[in-house]
Amino acid sequence: MTNKPSNPGHVFLTGPMGAGKSTIGIPLSERLERTFYDMDQMIVEKTGRSIPEIFADDGECNFRALEGQMLADLCAGKEPAVIATGGGVVLSVPNCKRITSSGTAIWLDAPPEVAAERISGDANRPLLLGVDTLQKARELDYTRRPLYASIAAHTVRTDQLAPTDAVEDILEFLGCP
Ligand code: S3P
Repeated sequence: MTNKPSNPGHVFLTGPMGAGKSTIGIPLSERLERTFYDMDQMIVEKTGRSIPEIFADDGECNFRALEGQMLADLCAGKEPAVIATGGGVVLSVPNCKRITSSGTAIWLDAPPEVAAERISGDANRPLLLGVDTLQKARELDYTRRPLYASIAAHTVRTDQLAPTDAVEDILEFLGCP
């Protein structure tokens, strides 16, 4: 789906773990001459704890609250930025509304089989601890795919495009090639 934005505002990269949000977000922000924010990284910097530590000590619910607050803070930023969201940001309706009202969501879509291969063995992703990565990626894909689709202004298949080509595709969509 593609709805060209007249004023893109913040550019939000959404999609599952392993979709390439940071890999694509950094060069995209450089081309757009915008600041790049990685929400997970910012939560780590703000709390002084890793994402697995936050999940283990406070539980997923509290992580989601931190994530929602971080999103709200970033959305309030006046300078348009490129923001890599966490894969679960779309689980909250208020988060989805914030994203669509303050910018443009680009869905970096990758089939669970591809995403699982990229993130397999990553100890920094608490949702994968002690579970079968492929099965978990499939489950998350099943529940979240409609949510990513519901807010996406544009979709990029990162299993079909190399990161440099994905960046060009997004720039073209935004009207800034
Ligand atoms: C999560 C994705 C992670 C991180 C946390 C939960 C999810 O971010 O926010 O581990 O629910 O899919 P990335 O998508 O950047 O890996």
